[in-house]
Amino acid sequence: MNPYQQKRRWKYFLLAFAVVIASGSVFYTSYLVKNIARSERTRAQVWALSMKQIGNTYDNDFLSYVLSVRDSLVVPALVTDAKGDFLFTRGLDPTKTFLGYDKEELKQRKLTYDPQYFKDELAYMKKQHAPIKLTTVLNETWLVYYKDSPLLTQLKMFPYIQLSVIAIFLLVAYTAFSSSRKSEQNQVWVGLAKETAHQLGTPISSLMAWIELIKDKFNAEDDPLMAEMENDVKRLEIVADRFSKIGSKPQLEDNPVYEVVKDFVDYFSVRVSNKISFELTGNRRLVAGLNIPLFDWVLENLLKNAVNAIDGTGSIKVQIHGSKQKKQIFIDITDTGKGIPRSKFDTVFQPGYTTRQRGWGLGLSLTKRIIQNYHNGQIFVKDSEIGKGTTFRIVLKTVKYDKQAKI
Ligand SMILES: Nc1ncnc2c1ncn2[C@@H]1O[C@H](COP(=O)(O)OP(=O)(O)OP(=O)(O)O)[C@@H](O)[C@H]1O
Ligand SMILES: [Mg+2]
Repeated sequence: MNPYQQKRRWKYFLLAFAVVIASGSVFYTSYLVKNIARSERTRAQVWALSMKQIGNTYDNDFLSYVLSVRDSLVVPALVTDAKGDFLFTRGLDPTKTFLGYDKEELKQRKLTYDPQYFKDELAYMKKQHAPIKLTTVLNETWLVYYKDSPLLTQLKMFPYIQLSVIAIFLLVAYTAFSSSRKSEQNQVWVGLAKETAHQLGTPISSLMAWIELIKDKFNAEDDPLMAEMENDVKRLEIVADRFSKIGSKPQLEDNPVYEVVKDFVDYFSVRVSNKISFELTGNRRLVAGLNIPLFDWVLENLLKNAVNAIDGTGSIKVQIHGSKQKKQIFIDITDTGKGIPRSKFDTVFQPGYTTRQRGWGLGLSLTKRIIQNYHNGQIFVKDSEIGKGTTFRIVLKTVKYDKQAKI
């Protein structure tokens, strides 16, 4: 199994695990809520019964027992008679609960009487639970309305608060870890690139000196073999140059995009099978800030991939066009190769993802890095159809339209 399948399996497994934990927590809390709600209904009932007893007993011991029972039951409740007039309340705002007091007394005690408050509370209680009906010794009907205690209300909210806190925590942890992992990867990239450039430098200089020596010693100035050797050494120099450029923030210079792409396509097209045709079209007046050695590396990776995807006869088209309003340049590279499944449009840019037996899966991740980090551009799979072909799009910022250049 390749690392990407493994990563995806882990993702699904962790997602399933998270769903199990979340639903377990919601289920268990709702079970607790149901139990507590049942006990609160009983409490409201017992409280109302105790209120009924207070007026009925002259036995002091029994009365103090009843009072202690009453005070231990803290479900917010409101009792009305059959007509709906308020009789007494429990567990509501104490500054407003002195029903039946006259205005003078309320003033003396610095309390307020707010009938709207009780009406609102009653409406809310009616919505929450059906009232408990009691009949007093005087054959009066009492309707006991009650609402969930603050504890129960909090408990209902608890799993959602808990899950949101955990989700925020995981998000922060994930962001922190992934940014530290990215900066580690960055260091590895830059370090390896610099080291490679450095190590290549010495043998390349020696090789150039040796070539000059051989030419002198064997009088081989015009020997075609020497020219071939020089070409190869030049190629090595380009490779070393690319590595040294990617190891530090490179300079961008204004360049005509069409010319740069044309030079590379001309160089590349003669080096691959002639069963593959190349075509370059588009606007020749667009200028962008480019680092040519690195940009050539991008083109090389994309064209090589296109050639690999074609595997036989086919064509590769490069189209360049710009959007004046958006100040952007689009470079579309279209092949007639095997195509990329939609689910892999992003994955192909991850380091290590390859479908080739001898591939390293580094080409596109390097390409993305050069475009995004060094050219402030974007690269993505614009279109692809299995068996028909693929279009990769590079987006660069326009520097200007070169009006002098011929179209
Ligand atoms: N034009 C394309 N058409 C179809 N598939 C493509 C194309 N370009 C890339 N891919 C897919 O994306 C994968 C990753 O490409 P990438 O260039 O990163 O690595 P690679 O070509 O496999 O190896 P290397 O490190 O040698 O470049 C390829 O193996 C291939 O499956
Ligand atoms: Mg490649």
